[in-house]
Amino acid sequence: MKGLVDKPRRKTAPADGERYEDPSFSAAVIAWQKQHGRHKLPWQNTRDAYRVWLSEIMLQQTQVAAVIPYYQRFLARCPDVFSLAAAPSEDVMALWSGLGYYTRARNLHKCAQRVVSEYGGRFPDDPELLADLPGIGRSTAAAIAAFSYGRRAAILDGNVKRVFARVFGIDGYPGAKPIEDKLWLRAVALLPDEGIEAYTQGLMDLGATLCVRGTPSCKTCPLAGRCVALAQDRVSELPVSKPKKAVPERETVMLVVTQGSDVLLEQRPDSGIWGGLLSLPEIAAGDAGRFDAAVRTLVEPYGELEGCRKLQPFSHVFTHFKLHVAPFQVALKSRSQRIAQNALVWYPVERLADAPLPAPVKKLLLGVLRSDDLLAAV
Ligand code: ADE
Repeated sequence: MKGLVDKPRRKTAPADGERYEDPSFSAAVIAWQKQHGRHKLPWQNTRDAYRVWLSEIMLQQTQVAAVIPYYQRFLARCPDVFSLAAAPSEDVMALWSGLGYYTRARNLHKCAQRVVSEYGGRFPDDPELLADLPGIGRSTAAAIAAFSYGRRAAILDGNVKRVFARVFGIDGYPGAKPIEDKLWLRAVALLPDEGIEAYTQGLMDLGATLCVRGTPSCKTCPLAGRCVALAQDRVSELPVSKPKKAVPERETVMLVVTQGSDVLLEQRPDSGIWGGLLSLPEIAAGDAGRFDAAVRTLVEPYGELEGCRKLQPFSHVFTHFKLHVAPFQVALKSRSQRIAQNALVWYPVERLADAPLPAPVKKLLLGVLRSDDLLAAV
């Protein structure tokens, strides 16, 4: 039988996460939290998973001070998961109104309904089951499991990423997958054997009160002695910011078509940029070579062309791209009586200041068409 029996294998190197283990880290966080952390937030000192969950969802993208009144109002109207699950969605949205990121409210409602239908109204204590519910990611699941059930699970929200990036001198943007994966390994390896509630709260408190983004309070930080960023004078460099992507650029030609005291505006479709607003008629920048022909085609149904002049170009930055606008003013001698076919409308210049226009378009129009000049010219 020799050779068939497994010999105990000698460990040659510690597993990836193991080399990050350091019980003195959690001990420092726990001791600091007990003495200097936050203890009287409205969602603390309870093991009610509904309250813990509600607070964690509200706190996902919102500061504590803004959450407190919403949390209290929400609880007064929906004191438990059953009342929330049964509430009309308009009521849930109204209770959330002003907190922003409304997907959270829709998921909150769905989650309450699933907790009632699948778990009889009791939130599960397993972080993996929690993370399967709507609106609950891995970090939020861990916070709920730790605060409600004392489960030993790792959080890694934006604040904790900042603390880890500084303390361990982690280069690279913490939102990038490979860096985030490493951070999760550390987060798990550093968990204490006992005191998960104080440890979890301590990490949150450190990130929110001392190890802040702008000017951290390193002098009073319990982790200063082990902080790589502080030792290397790199506190302001870490965590590394999100790399800026090259912003795609687009060009367009906008026409300020005037006749008498009116300007031609176009209703934009409901979807896409400036959805539902009025704006200026545009011709594709590619048509600029055939500019005269393009302008003629556009304005012919509306009147007889008098003259055209180039206006000052400008750019506008959207979240996903930059728009370069080449505006032209096109004056019409007379206006045909034809009713506009498409989304074009004649709009009185004197009412432009209150018109539902995108800000840069309104600025252009008010700059070009000061109503008194135009009216004087009529
Ligand atoms: N941010 C996320 N969860 C929090 C909590 N439980 N207390 C304070 N701030 C938080």
